[in-house]
Amino acid sequence: MQKSHFKRVFLIVLDSLGAGELPDAAAFGDKGAHTLRSLSRSGRLYIPNLRRLGIGNIEGLGFLGTDDRQEGACCKLGERSNGKDSTIGHWEMSGVISPCPLPTFPDGFPQEILDEFSRITGRGVLCNKPYSGTQVIADYGEEHMRTGDLIVYTSADSVFQIAAHEDVVPLDELYRYCEAARKMLRGQYGVGRVIARPFIGQPGGFTRSAHRHDYSVEPPSRTVLDALKEAGRDVISVGKIKDLFAGRGLTETHPTSGNAEGMAVTASLAEKDFNGLCFVNLVDFDMLYGHRQDAEGYANALSAFDEWLGGFLGQLREEDLLLITADHGCDPSDSSTDHTREYIPLLAYGRRILPLNLGVRSTFADIAATVAGALDVEYPCPGSSLLGELTDLRTHLRARAVDAMHCSYSPYSGFRVGAALLCEGGRIYTGCNIENSAYSPTICAERTAFAKAVSEGERNFRMIAIAGGKEGVMQAICPPCGVCRQVMREFCESDFEIILVSPDGYECHTLAELLPLGFSL
Ligand code: THU
Repeated sequence: MQKSHFKRVFLIVLDSLGAGELPDAAAFGDKGAHTLRSLSRSGRLYIPNLRRLGIGNIEGLGFLGTDDRQEGACCKLGERSNGKDSTIGHWEMSGVISPCPLPTFPDGFPQEILDEFSRITGRGVLCNKPYSGTQVIADYGEEHMRTGDLIVYTSADSVFQIAAHEDVVPLDELYRYCEAARKMLRGQYGVGRVIARPFIGQPGGFTRSAHRHDYSVEPPSRTVLDALKEAGRDVISVGKIKDLFAGRGLTETHPTSGNAEGMAVTASLAEKDFNGLCFVNLVDFDMLYGHRQDAEGYANALSAFDEWLGGFLGQLREEDLLLITADHGCDPSDSSTDHTREYIPLLAYGRRILPLNLGVRSTFADIAATVAGALDVEYPCPGSSLLGELTDLRTHLRARAVDAMHCSYSPYSGFRVGAALLCEGGRIYTGCNIENSAYSPTICAERTAFAKAVSEGERNFRMIAIAGGKEGVMQAICPPCGVCRQVMREFCESDFEIILVSPDGYECHTLAELLPLGFSL
């Protein structure tokens, strides 16, 4: 496969912008969840630039408005990890699949953990329950001041939070305790974050101070960020990316206060020369609107992003690749304030990117593979790169022909054939062979594709890819039969290209080569 040589990749995560329930959503309590549909129903959504890139052409998102002349590539991705939080979502798109969700402790932490924590700190523990952060200091603050015991609490999220008064436990001491807790909480106790929650004031009037500090869990294995950094590429974090990866695999970080600053920082980075990945998280969608069940606010925020995007697209250079995606859902109109188990949308845009619909894919990790491929860095991972298809039309047609083989109706021969026919205007029609017990009415895959296209009004064709094999096992190549060649002769010029798919690639021929002296009236 040809080298891609992209110089800069912008990967922008619209936090919680789900594209509809995953097949296993019910197991997560999220049957029917659909973040984008809820935004669309709010009546506030105005996203012409995302539509231009093809968001409405993603399977199941037609309600956003399909676009016949999409300028970007689009698809949606399923999540293979067993979870629906930001950390696991970002890890998977960076190449690491999590078979277990990050642990939560609805009944508090087990005694052995508390004992170990007390041994390290020399202090007792108060509370040890899920609790609101302001309520916990009101209820336990005084006892904490009297005894010096630490207030340990959690929430519905995977967190171990330690609250202490700044006059009782000096900040540097609290931070040391948090670091020790971070080291202690591993494996089945490996919470997403340990959080220092210092507070100030007098009993009856305690308030949280500005010195909160988060200690995230490191990804359990090597991410594409690590691979990029090792290969000497820039890996720039904007927003909470740094926290999600515990700072690992990054060369530059830009913490932000929210979407507006995140977009401004990203636009200014686009003016700079760098060689690598700019990984952006825009958190307001999730934090301010998704969790608060505010569909209108969410739709307004997405419309604001879309407006910014219009300008940002103009900043992109020849060797840039833009990827826009999400990390999970958070349907603002469902019955809970929690995240939702959904597909994520993926839009790809760049001068070298073909405007294709890549359908539905099974893992967020395809993003990691694509980023690694775009920046020419070796990174084996569970995802497959979309780059070949996104930048090479023949590779894409090959994939479509192989896909079409799955639909083959061939009970008599057991020989499956798939074809993908590219029309002059850019549309692709696929076809499979359809057999008949009387044998002769059998229609070949190529003719199925031509029949579909011609009956939709198409008359001008650029190329066709053909794949075939017994029981679906692809054979070396599957050249078209004489009848199909003659059908091609009817509609195509002699330079019409015929791509013969082989198990590890394809070879190209012209119609003139495959059908010299074809019949015509
Ligand atoms: N077949 C095609 O679909 N295309 C060709 O060009 C050659 C043959 C199918 C027809 C039949 O279902 C099976 O392959 C075996 O002949």
